[in-house]
Amino acid sequence: MEANKCCGCAQLTDPRYEQLAELIERYKTKKGALVPLLHEAQEIFGYLPEEVQRRVADGLGIPLSEVYGVATFYSLFSLKPRGKHKIGICLGTACYVRGSGEVLAELEKELAIKVNDTTADGKFTLEIARCIGACGLAPVMTVDEDVFGRLTPDRIKEILARY
Ligand code: FES
Repeated sequence: MEANKCCGCAQLTDPRYEQLAELIERYKTKKGALVPLLHEAQEIFGYLPEEVQRRVADGLGIPLSEVYGVATFYSLFSLKPRGKHKIGICLGTACYVRGSGEVLAELEKELAIKVNDTTADGKFTLEIARCIGACGLAPVMTVDEDVFGRLTPDRIKEILARY
């Protein structure tokens, strides 16, 4: 049996966990390390699975509940795998009064997911955005860096097909 394989456990052979161990080593004596450490860990894994949170807690010598609290407090962190493309539908006031609620309903129907979920093929994650400063184009949504304005539900299918 190889030294780093005791039971075929995927976590033991996943090189990302070695990167995480190096990160923890680098951060563990620094003050205010938790947020930047989680940020870099999320860049490695794409999100923050429980095992990552546990190793960060152990490595920094803090309770898992503290790590979980920070991971859920900041919207930049995700506890679930994210899709390749991130959709943000604006529910700010200007967008909402111009019908972004209906656009959201169409997105949920078309993608067959709810807000904060990711499609089964890993392609899209659907999120709510607050005003993105494009109220003149309301209702607005973003797909990654692209902004789509003056939306109507019947445009959603065509926009998603571009990705
Ligand atoms: S309210 Fe949607 S962009 Fe301002």
